Amino acid sequence: MSTEPLPTINPADLPKHVGIIMDGNGRWASARKLPRLEGHRRGAERIFDVVDSCIDQGIKNLTLFAFSVENWKRPEEEVNGLFKLGEWVLRANLSRLLKRKVRLRVIGDLEAMPDFVKIPLKEAIAASAENDALNLIVALNYGARQEVTLAAQKLAQDVASGKLKPEDVNWQSIESRLQTSGLPDPDLIIRTSGESRLSNFLLLQSAYAEIVIVKAHWPDFTKEEFQAALLEFTKRERRFGMTREQIQPTLKS
Ligand code: IPE
Ligand code: IPE
Ligand code: MG
Repeated sequence: MSTEPLPTINPADLPKHVGIIMDGNGRWASARKLPRLEGHRRGAERIFDVVDSCIDQGIKNLTLFAFSVENWKRPEEEVNGLFKLGEWVLRANLSRLLKRKVRLRVIGDLEAMPDFVKIPLKEAIAASAENDALNLIVALNYGARQEVTLAAQKLAQDVASGKLKPEDVNWQSIESRLQTSGLPDPDLIIRTSGESRLSNFLLLQSAYAEIVIVKAHWPDFTKEEFQAALLEFTKRERRFGMTREQIQPTLKS
């Protein structure tokens, strides 16, 4: 790892919402001839460095992809091990999160999770509801297509009951029925472990997100790696459909 000091970034240039696809725990473990669950355990430790970094720099929203709806297809032993680990990680770190004024939220189907995960998570969500240093959003049993499907069902019900006219369905009425409603769109999505795909993570909300792919496996994702990803974000030219000249008027001849 480099010994260079961490670059400081002008707060105005930081993303307002970072999403992280925490990938590569299995490969990290395989490379060390360790069980996959050991990779997940080591990966879980990395979460709190990123949380601290966000709070210290004033990034207000962090969404972590912890378990996708597709991850149920993994061997039962791994799925159960992940859930037990998740419960333990929450228990071991809740007081620290509350002390740092973190507000916990979950997106995804929490109701379908086993009680030993669902109950403590709901308690933590309630206990942290007044906190405002950081929205820590855990995407758990989450899939963007499932989220959109639920939003479409709610819209259909509202149209059927006369609450909404079909012609009034617009992006705003869709967005307000997504689970991320009220949060700014992620402006930076980081994926560790080198894979260049979104794997059903925040597909609609990421329409204009900058995507930074990091080679390191998630258990090796340090504060320095996070800072480097933030720095990369500041170098991107975000155009939102416009021309370079519109974004940087000084380029006009
Ligand atoms: C990410 O690491 C954690 C979860 C998906 C729960 P992986 O377990 O996907 O690690 P790789 O991709 O197999 O290395
Ligand atoms: C995405 O990683 C899900 C999480 C990080 C929780 P996966 O490892 O499940 O994604 P794929 O299967 O490689 O696309
Ligand atoms: Mg993976």
